[in-house]
Amino acid sequence: MVPIPLKEFVAGSVIPVDLYIRLSDDKYVLIAKEDSKTQMDQLQAYENKRVEYLFVRREDYNRYVGSNLVIAGVVVNRNEIAAERKADFLARAGSSVMREIDVLGLNTESFEHAKLVSQATATLVEAKSDLYGVMSSLAKISGELLAHSVAVSTVSVMIGKTMGWTKRATLEKVALGGLLHDVGLKEVPVEILRKSRAEMSFDELTLYESHAFRGLEILRTIPSVPDDVASIAYEHHENAIGQGYPRKMRDLRMNPLAKVVALADQFVELTIRSPNCLNPRTAPEALRYIEITMGQPFNKDAYSALRLLIAKPSGQNAA
Ligand SMILES: [Fe+2]
Ligand SMILES: [Fe+2]
Repeated sequence: MVPIPLKEFVAGSVIPVDLYIRLSDDKYVLIAKEDSKTQMDQLQAYENKRVEYLFVRREDYNRYVGSNLVIAGVVVNRNEIAAERKADFLARAGSSVMREIDVLGLNTESFEHAKLVSQATATLVEAKSDLYGVMSSLAKISGELLAHSVAVSTVSVMIGKTMGWTKRATLEKVALGGLLHDVGLKEVPVEILRKSRAEMSFDELTLYESHAFRGLEILRTIPSVPDDVASIAYEHHENAIGQGYPRKMRDLRMNPLAKVVALADQFVELTIRSPNCLNPRTAPEALRYIEITMGQPFNKDAYSALRLLIAKPSGQNAA
């Protein structure tokens, strides 16, 4: 059984799979047959009883995620729907895909789902890049790694677009690389992931830092993964001045898309809560931290683009 947070369900939407509630460790009860609609009062009643998760069968989970994606894809393409609501749907679809990869592994099907999310992300950002609106939708995602991945994906596309990247295929690739950049963390024990970097022993840190290479290896098992996306996973902890890991590459040698994701990753790490960031900074504070405390080690063009995005008042369309 795969748990799905209760707050991911929207009242009145059709659930394409059977839905269960858990009574005890191994006892589940069917609460809704496939293709029935979720009811507001039913969801409310569960919330009052402090139910946190509903469950779907493992073999149904791909189908559940697929239908979420179809809905998000439709919503993102509809003009009459407000951008903030679109971002909400996208965040939900993105987090269900990341959970799918977590539970079922990265396979051709979950990778195709990740591609659909990336296409929707590119569509949304092309139509409207409002950094603050998007960040506030992302803050609602439960699960820190989920929120982190979806945020890095979106912010990377925004930076790329502000840098003048116009090719749709490039924007989709950077979105996909942003979404999957930390996929190698799947192989790092959760006890280590719960610690901040400062609390890790040398061996734990080494294991943690291996996630970049592990990500590359995982992505290489899927033939349809573009090389750029695999490079993003491998190079997202490098920086322009050669002080990153695992290879201490410099700006000139780094993959152009990875330069953007490396900056987006750092920015999101400073602004969204995680074991490394118990008091998230505001966007301008994060920018100052990158510039002053870290000495701005990232690609200059990417950094200027992020600065432009942050200076823009909320709700304003990108040029
Ligand atoms: Fe990472
Ligand atoms: Fe990351």
